[in-house]
Amino acid sequence: RLHSGEAIPEWFTFPEVVDILRERHPANARQGYTLFFTGLSGSGKSTLAQAVLARLLETGSRPVTVLDGDEVRRHLSKGLGFSREDRDANITRIGYVASEVVRHGGIAICAPIAPYAGARADARQLVQAHGRFVEIHVSTPLEVCEARDRKGLYAAARAGKIKGFTGIDDPYEVPSSPELRVDTSQLSVGEAAERVVEWLREQALA
Ligand code: PPS
Repeated sequence: RLHSGEAIPEWFTFPEVVDILRERHPANARQGYTLFFTGLSGSGKSTLAQAVLARLLETGSRPVTVLDGDEVRRHLSKGLGFSREDRDANITRIGYVASEVVRHGGIAICAPIAPYAGARADARQLVQAHGRFVEIHVSTPLEVCEARDRKGLYAAARAGKIKGFTGIDDPYEVPSSPELRVDTSQLSVGEAAERVVEWLREQALA
């Protein structure tokens, strides 16, 4: 322990010492976790993420960081497109930021499409170095997402105005073993959010 006013010795900045200090910090006493929503455009990821956020803020005392698909692309992933390479880079960035949030005992809520299993596994690995990674497949069927077409992007993709649109002419690799699966064509947003929070309670995470 350093006394106030005492000069900081060089060894105090060694990575091993910094790790010990970080673990001892009261904010890191409880393990953080990541909720990683993945699913097609229009599946309800963002709405669900907002509903779960509201529940966690209402009941919990831990800081929550939301890394929503559209938001991330405006800031963290500005300039990236929708090639496989760019989508993978986007998910790795999200995974990295989530892992930092988790490292500091917080909750990260991510809601990208994340169509490739490999990139999702990489994000899981980054986060699991510091806490839990909860993958939630928002499994609303393509027909329903397309019928909703809130942004008109499915119509544009069908008309060939957008190339490489997920679910139309670009793949979505269905998660094989997510922690949870919810379908917003079968459940209301509130019910789906409640199911997520219920699962978190069972795991003693909420
Ligand atoms: S990814 O694949 O995880 O990197 O995608 P993500 O960052 O979540 O961005 C998805 C949103 O971008 C819009 N958009 C597209 N989606 C899929 N394919 C193509 N080609 C595409 N071009 C633009 C679309 O509005 C997605 O928004 P959501 O919120 O998922 O509906």
